[in-house]
Amino acid sequence: MELKDKHIVLGVSGGIAAYKAAELTRLLVKAGAAVQVVMTEGATHFVTPVTFQALSGRTVFTDQWDGRVANNMAHIDLSREADLILVAPASADFLAKVAHGLADDLLTTLVLARPRAGTDGAVQDCPLLVAPAMNRQMWENPATRRNAATLAADGVTLLGPGCGEQACGETGDGRMLEPEEIVEDLIAFLQPKALAGKKVLITAGPTFEAIDPVRGITNLSSGRMGFAVARAAREAGAEVTLVSGPVSLPTPRGVTRIDVAGALAMHAAVMARAAAQDVFVGVAAVADYRPKAAAEHKIKKVDGAPPAIELVENPDILAEVAALPKPPLCVGFAAESRNLAEYAQQKRERKKIPLIAGNLIQHGFGGEDNTLVLFDARGQTPLPPGPKSELARALIRHIAGLLERR
Ligand code: C5P
Repeated sequence: MELKDKHIVLGVSGGIAAYKAAELTRLLVKAGAAVQVVMTEGATHFVTPVTFQALSGRTVFTDQWDGRVANNMAHIDLSREADLILVAPASADFLAKVAHGLADDLLTTLVLARPRAGTDGAVQDCPLLVAPAMNRQMWENPATRRNAATLAADGVTLLGPGCGEQACGETGDGRMLEPEEIVEDLIAFLQPKALAGKKVLITAGPTFEAIDPVRGITNLSSGRMGFAVARAAREAGAEVTLVSGPVSLPTPRGVTRIDVAGALAMHAAVMARAAAQDVFVGVAAVADYRPKAAAEHKIKKVDGAPPAIELVENPDILAEVAALPKPPLCVGFAAESRNLAEYAQQKRERKKIPLIAGNLIQHGFGGEDNTLVLFDARGQTPLPPGPKSELARALIRHIAGLLERR
């Protein structure tokens, strides 16, 4: 329920991507938001208001002269109630109107009338986010480019557009972001920017240490916690690089991902970047050992003669980063099956890192939820149990606090 208690006005303007706004409405409602849909006349030619009414559970407004609003000022009422206005799809015509302050229908009027922060901070700002959707040539047209730049300069947030196949058969920039991407961007927009301008490097997932071309040694790790930390750091405004072992998870939006298999490759990817970072978070379950040499060809089974695999130790990536002359703020993870506090604090001291996040393995790995306790020089701080996304945000807030005091 990442949008719980959020009141969103969803504006739908005329374009074929309006059909995706129906799915967007469903996702916003599912995330806990109250969604009030406002459509332009053009949008109603693509999808009917009934669709949005059913999905949002609220009557849809399309008309500036709607008699249902007692004082006849729907444009004022709707934007006053809203925490934010999201327009998806935003057509070229809609962007042009807003860039020039035109207000000739309900949606453009309420956008123009949205409350803006006063110099005394007394008025609650109602942010405007737009997800452009149009044909490639329309998006590339100098007039649209100018309008998009004007909107950005006026403090409007542009989500996308994306690049790809278009309804007109062409391929290029101008596609509306997918509804899931818009929701992810919207949630990110609402998070406090505690790490604005900071660079954060994160490892996630297991490592895979090859025995031969088809076999290897690995750890149980879904990568979910590390990916949640990467997403939370990005939401907090950081420039995030995620070095990931083999996992099947989508890359959080706006995060640079580097895929690796073995600990040596993870080590190389991290050490090449670590000195330039403000924060390093080692979430990966790095294998402690790897086979001394991977066989070039598949090892054949010989009855009665199991092969011996000689192991060598992997480098401790986190400890090495922490030992750099000017290390980033280093954060480790410790999953223990018992004596969590004792083992986690020992680990923190051994690796010489300021913070370690520990969890007791009770219910296995790979779920959406987790429990975490933060251990630093002052002692321990248990985080309220919950989804990994929320724990990751709490961890990022804690890290931002440590960074300030550094
Ligand atoms: O040493 P141990 O595996 O118990 O410590 C776990 C922490 O150290 C995690 O943050 C993990 O990402 C990191 N680590 C590492 N390189 C290793 C082993 C662990 O970065 N070779």
